[in-house]
Amino acid sequence: MDRGSRILGLGTYVPERIVTNDDLAEILDTSDEWIRKRTGISERRWVEGDVGPAELAEPAARQAVAAAGLELSDIQLILFATLSPDLFFPGSACLLQDRLGLNGCAAMDIRNQCTGFLYGLATADAFIRAGLYEHVLVVGSEVHSSGLDMSDRGRDVTVIFGDGAGAAVVGPSTEGDRRILGHSLHADGALVDILKLVAPASSMNPRLTAEMMEQGLHYPYMEGRAVFKQAVQLLPGLIRGILTQHGLDLDQLDLLVPHQANLRINEMVARALGLGPDKVINNIQRLGNTTAASIPIALHEAVEGGRVKPGDLVCLAGLGAGMTWGASLIRW
Ligand code: UT7
Repeated sequence: MDRGSRILGLGTYVPERIVTNDDLAEILDTSDEWIRKRTGISERRWVEGDVGPAELAEPAARQAVAAAGLELSDIQLILFATLSPDLFFPGSACLLQDRLGLNGCAAMDIRNQCTGFLYGLATADAFIRAGLYEHVLVVGSEVHSSGLDMSDRGRDVTVIFGDGAGAAVVGPSTEGDRRILGHSLHADGALVDILKLVAPASSMNPRLTAEMMEQGLHYPYMEGRAVFKQAVQLLPGLIRGILTQHGLDLDQLDLLVPHQANLRINEMVARALGLGPDKVINNIQRLGNTTAASIPIALHEAVEGGRVKPGDLVCLAGLGAGMTWGASLIRW
């Protein structure tokens, strides 16, 4: 068998501040009933003050390294997936690297939104298989709350996003079959406009004006129904496809860890695949949509909660802005 890789340890960090649907209903024209019914979300975590995704990621990263039984100095590459980077440049991977005291190791940002963690995991897997690195830290971390439209105009997006960080240490697989089996990564740039943040942008001169801010172009824009439709149309075929690619079928799948964008999406995908609730993990009810962080956080919860055992077949899958979508298949 050729050299493979596996997830050696996971970590999570979410801010302490809980924001309930009722809290949002005090600021926006929304209600607990609407949010629960349309999204499944009851509450989310939001940072207080000036906290960026690199700061949120630090405890998650330290936890993942400890869970892997490694020292921080064992990490040779940091891959940081985020759509809410601390700065326009340099990347959050460099900021996290400095926080961890790993100055000198390789560090790179991944800008693939809700699919970012999966693109990161695939990149880590490829580097390890190729023998370039032994231990790669893959992080998904987001601070949405400082960039949401708190007026009624933005209520569709504002109620769904939460802040949080998830991290995984990926290293060589030394235990037979226990390894990442493969990935199925996709993008369709023709769908850029259905989910985006327009300003500031280097393609506009100037990049940001008072008029743009009045129009709310510095807030996320989403055609929710169009994104929803893409997710329920693409994800079932994607999951079936990656299983088939590896000579496996749905009956053999022990757990699906989907991106947490909307509980209704995950329920429809599960129904389309004939997967019962015991085969799918959802935590959007408590954390909202944490985009790049949602898959590693949900996977970590599944492992901690005993829902993933050594040898289990686990599929991670998600879709988001770009559009980008993807899945990873793991023999845990
Ligand atoms: O992670 C990235 C990928 N993102 C996703 O996968 C998100 C996918 N989309 C969704 O989850 C859903 O489209 C939303 C939850 C964002 C919206 O739910 P929806 O059922 O598609 O609602 P809608 O946008 O079609 O709006 C229905 C109604 C509208 O009112 P009218 O025109 O029927 O009078 C909206 O103005 O709901 C209204 N509305 C709200 N009402 C109360 C929109 N947002 C809210 C709100 N509270 N927060």
